[in-house]
Amino acid sequence: MAENNQRAGNPAQWSSRFAFIMAAVGSAVGLGNIWKFPYITGENGGGAFVLVYLACIAVIGLPIMVAEVMLGRRGGKSPIGTMAMVAGNEGRSRGWAGVGIMATLTAFIILSFYSVIAGWTMPYILAAVGGDFSNIAAEESGALFGGLLASPGQLLLWHTVFMGLTVLVSAGGVRHGLERAVTKLMPALFVLLLILVGYAMTTGYFGEAIGFLFRPDFSALTAEAVLVALGHAFFTLSLASGAMMAYGAYLQKDVSIARTSVVVAIMDTGVALLAGLAIFPIVFAHGLEPGEGPGLIFVTLPVAFGQMPGGSFFATLFFVLLLFAAWTSSISMLESLVSYLNEKGVSRVKAAVGGGLVAWLVGITTVLSLNDWSGFTPLAMFERFEGKTLFDLYDFLTANIMMPLGALMTALFVGWKMKPANSAVELGRWHGLWFPVVRYLSPIAVLIVFYFNLK
Ligand code: PHE
Ligand code: NA
Repeated sequence: MAENNQRAGNPAQWSSRFAFIMAAVGSAVGLGNIWKFPYITGENGGGAFVLVYLACIAVIGLPIMVAEVMLGRRGGKSPIGTMAMVAGNEGRSRGWAGVGIMATLTAFIILSFYSVIAGWTMPYILAAVGGDFSNIAAEESGALFGGLLASPGQLLLWHTVFMGLTVLVSAGGVRHGLERAVTKLMPALFVLLLILVGYAMTTGYFGEAIGFLFRPDFSALTAEAVLVALGHAFFTLSLASGAMMAYGAYLQKDVSIARTSVVVAIMDTGVALLAGLAIFPIVFAHGLEPGEGPGLIFVTLPVAFGQMPGGSFFATLFFVLLLFAAWTSSISMLESLVSYLNEKGVSRVKAAVGGGLVAWLVGITTVLSLNDWSGFTPLAMFERFEGKTLFDLYDFLTANIMMPLGALMTALFVGWKMKPANSAVELGRWHGLWFPVVRYLSPIAVLIVFYFNLK
């Protein structure tokens, strides 16, 4: 039984390159693309932010993804175990395991609040099924969302359900079922986004949205916006969190890591851009505020669904797919910790339940940040953190500090501490292109962004 669980939840290898791509895309595509990307783009003024984000994906995110998958495959262990082992084999200090420890912690903090946000999809599924969105006005939609946030009980309930779902898959054998589900659900999500973009074109504000997303106004770009774009490149690709390293450990030797990573990055970026193209026309058509924050899609999309033919059906489908996308991401967040504890002799079931329980407890502070504790801004004495609730701080700390730091350390390790001959074995003919980028370009870019934010 225990052995079965082990094999089912922790496959020694993916069954194919396709299975790895699906798992990696499942991890990457999530709330980051559909919920976070549009709202931070709205908050940071559009075009210039989007361009910086795309540059960060190409120049920093993608090379780091290649590095993480490569390290994962070489180590073949949990992110913590992999870093210790690869560093040891390279004749370096096993203290590099610290990179794995920080990644595991990062994923864990993210999971705590990600579960709360993912929970929002469930009352939205119920509302969609009940036809609550039909002909809803923007104001009503805002009130509906406000009502959800104002109710700690509701938020806690859905947070609990979502964390339960995550633990369930992480603990046991459903992984393969889920992998199969991902292969159907991800394309469905893609198609549904296309339908939404099609609808958005009929609003008469599509051109305005294109301008907002793709016409850069660099005069409005702040150092913090660049940091947010950089952080989001890591967040959206599931980097510096152990997720890709853990999944890389299950990758066969004959798969091209570089080509596979490019596919994952393109799919992830495609979904984010489609989400933006679907949402901003609606925002402008209804006079909504692009910088309205984390509620952006939950306020705008119901208005669109409420007006389109078959809207209740599409709305239900959309929020179900969003829930699945978030689910396949949250499972990968728990994987760093579970695989580590598993290595230390703790069963996957115990590790997943224990980890999920603690993340759930921490998540309660995010639930309360949205209502009863919304005035609790513990770092308000620093100008930068003024008005930031605990939830805001978890988000900032992970995406904008821990992830860039972790990625920087990873780049320094593969670029300066690992023998190039060894990474070349893993990367083949792509090595010549990749190596100078992770050795110089990626770390220097991260350092520059940090520098301008500390000044
Ligand atoms: N990439 C996921 C998303 O965009 C979030 C994530 C972060 C998943 C870190 C795993 C690890 O939603
Ligand atoms: Na993503």
